[in-house]
Amino acid sequence: MVAEAPLYLDACATTPLAQVAHEAMEAARQLAWANPSSLHGFGLSAAESLERSRHSLASSLGTGAEAIRFCSGATESVHLALLGAAATLPVGRLLISAVEHPAVNAAAAQLQRQGWQVEPIPVGPTGLLDLGVLESLLHPPTRLVSVIAAQSEVGSIQPLTTIAQLCRQAGVLLHTDAVQLAPHRPIAMDELGLDLVSLSAHKLGGPRGVGALLVRPGLRLEPLLGGGGQERGQRAGTEPVVLAAGFAAALAAARRHQLDGTSQRLEASRDHLLHDLLALPGVRLSGPDPTRQPRLPHHISLLLSDGQGRPLDGRKLVRALWNEGVAVSSGSACSGGSGRAEPSPVLLAMGWDRSQAASGLRLSLGSWLEASQLERVPLALERAMASCGAAAP
Ligand SMILES: Cc1ncc(COP(=O)(O)O)c(C=O)c1O
Repeated sequence: MVAEAPLYLDACATTPLAQVAHEAMEAARQLAWANPSSLHGFGLSAAESLERSRHSLASSLGTGAEAIRFCSGATESVHLALLGAAATLPVGRLLISAVEHPAVNAAAAQLQRQGWQVEPIPVGPTGLLDLGVLESLLHPPTRLVSVIAAQSEVGSIQPLTTIAQLCRQAGVLLHTDAVQLAPHRPIAMDELGLDLVSLSAHKLGGPRGVGALLVRPGLRLEPLLGGGGQERGQRAGTEPVVLAAGFAAALAAARRHQLDGTSQRLEASRDHLLHDLLALPGVRLSGPDPTRQPRLPHHISLLLSDGQGRPLDGRKLVRALWNEGVAVSSGSACSGGSGRAEPSPVLLAMGWDRSQAASGLRLSLGSWLEASQLERVPLALERAMASCGAAAP
């Protein structure tokens, strides 16, 4: 048993609900509970609240309110972006990075079944896209590109400005999954000239069950579902007014944190913790080195090995660290039945071998943590690694 309360270091999986989001949702629950399509006063209050949330999100994202389509989260948003845009285009080629979230890979696989050619663009050892390969493929039949703005497992931030420029020059539509970037960096949708942007509220202090697709005004999209004409006819279904209020409040707070020093303090805590973790034997960094390359400011990803240099099992480490009172995650999935870690596709794409790619661990911090609480993490990891090492066959 651990004496202290467990530490939550898994912000990339989900964040606790921010107080401002909770308050905004409580207010909306009181005043804006009705269906925003209803013509009576209750409905008008709900519609007004929804539009306030839409305007607030848009101003946090450097675009106009007409760009926002509320939906259930980023998985839906990504599918609407890729399948909805592809349905308006002749069958062609979709380029995706080799380190996309499974939601993008799944939407790409659906397009492949419809006859689209799907080409993964390779990444280098830090997870950054090979821009030369991207550029060489930006000609017909390429019609659509999807790139993850910031990688959830290894923290790399793609050069979105350059990627958007290349796509625009080639006349190819660009979708970006900005789920992990939006809590930490401004997304200047219009300035960057992005066509489609996917976001999720629960990764930035908002509630689960709501997200958005940002659609460049004028861009046609085929809806995935028929029904009511909500969200400019592109996403049918009664809008989640209360959740949208929480989403907007959480994103506005995240933007304030990027400007008022909170993000910088978080980054300094991350740097300090990373320094202490890398001093432990058998611990090395995966993804970009934050002293030299852009990396999500709250993000640490490690590869771990035992005293003999043999990679440890990332999933066992997650459980062992939880026994030490620290909640983290690993990029590896469980292999069918054996319980052992399968290599992470992201780490494989970055060039790590199979056993190294099964030894990954991710620690992602958030503003709910005090710097002093992190002091116990290195010892916890050392103990967890020792217990996994002892259990290894
Ligand atoms: C980069 C990225 N894209 C998409 C998703 C899917 O988000 P949601 O849970 O809102 O469907 C996630 C969440 O794991 C993510 O990290």
